[in-house]
Amino acid sequence: MAAAVVWRRGAAWLRSCRGNRELPGVPRARGCAGSREVVPTCERYAVRRLPFARLADGDVAFFERLMPGRVITGEEEVKPFNVDWLKSVREPQLALRVPCFHCRLQPAGVEAPDNGRGVSDSQVLADGSALDCLTSLRKDNTGYDLKQLFIGSEGTLGVITAVSILCPQRPKAVNVAFLGCQSFAKVLETFTTCRAMLGEILSAYEFMDEKCMELVETHLKLSSPVADSPFYVLIETSGSNSTHDEEKLHNFLERAMASGLVTDGTVATDEKKIKVLWSLRERITEALTHEGYVYKYDISLPVGKLYDLVTDMRARLGQSAKNVVGYGHLGDGNLHLNITAESYSHSLLEAIEPFVYEWTARCSGSISAEHGLGFKKRHFIHYSKPHEAVLLMQQFKAMLDPKGILNPYKTLPSAPDRSAC
Ligand code: LAC
Ligand code: ZN
Repeated sequence: MAAAVVWRRGAAWLRSCRGNRELPGVPRARGCAGSREVVPTCERYAVRRLPFARLADGDVAFFERLMPGRVITGEEEVKPFNVDWLKSVREPQLALRVPCFHCRLQPAGVEAPDNGRGVSDSQVLADGSALDCLTSLRKDNTGYDLKQLFIGSEGTLGVITAVSILCPQRPKAVNVAFLGCQSFAKVLETFTTCRAMLGEILSAYEFMDEKCMELVETHLKLSSPVADSPFYVLIETSGSNSTHDEEKLHNFLERAMASGLVTDGTVATDEKKIKVLWSLRERITEALTHEGYVYKYDISLPVGKLYDLVTDMRARLGQSAKNVVGYGHLGDGNLHLNITAESYSHSLLEAIEPFVYEWTARCSGSISAEHGLGFKKRHFIHYSKPHEAVLLMQQFKAMLDPKGILNPYKTLPSAPDRSAC
């Protein structure tokens, strides 16, 4: 796997670009919708750059000495690294491709129990030293579990260079049911019934609203196997005995249909059909990018309130948003709330934030369930973490990366005494 380290081109080139909205040799990138402008980061966000933000030609020469032949300077080649995946902002930067990551997969049952799911890693710290926490032990309770600090820290504390993952055995029997529900209350009741009846073989409970289905059908030409419904549910079972699992699933589906929780549905047991059903749910993110600018929120909430946020947001934004959709990992209490508009608008952003965070905090939810805070959400961390916890995180950061050089401007609000230029 290759990692990309991105840095600015030599100072002279940068100076020549300053004030230029159009960078030499870099045509304006277009979004999927075909009409969106990809603006430089500094035009969209007020980022106070740290002292290392501008590299001199000597710095580039240093990397060339360090990794001969791995420095990429061709503008066309580096362009994909310089635009974010939503194609909304870009940087006048160059890229360096470094094969610096390897992954050790251990079959479960060989070095650990069958259901082992251990993860360990080793990393390089900001001062260049290596910290090797790579182990295949399932249990190790010696001192602080340092690797946990690095997992999920979004590269702000160290660069992970190796991971050891303990793989569970591949399930022998997998089934997927795709169902239509007439209301979110029924989605919730189906979940309760399904947990009670499927028990240990339930491995996923996902949901999406009808607008999501409309978008995957329109933009990706996928077709729903289930009649028009306000909500759709995808249920996956994973087990070791297909007869037993299918019987359990069958009993559950009979109950769900008979009691009117579900109005229509289909079941897949072969791999190909399972993939087709999963793609209806997994490709929603991709379909949304065809709609224009997407405001994305990844929220944890008590499941009972999961969709209320979508409904409230829809009512709040009215015609100012093109779409307000909800989908996600209901089984994990994880809502993906996505709002689209033809193009980025600051006033729409102000209508969404901090409302979305206040709403989430009132329900004791988390403002980032699985994707992290990154750059855009770091100043909202207080909605999910107490002041003392943020302070401790800032102290960890200051200790491990005093110059703030690792994935700068991400995850945490700057500590008050951090000097910026
Ligand atoms: C998903 C990504 C957005 O669940 O996390 O589709
Ligand atoms: Zn997700």
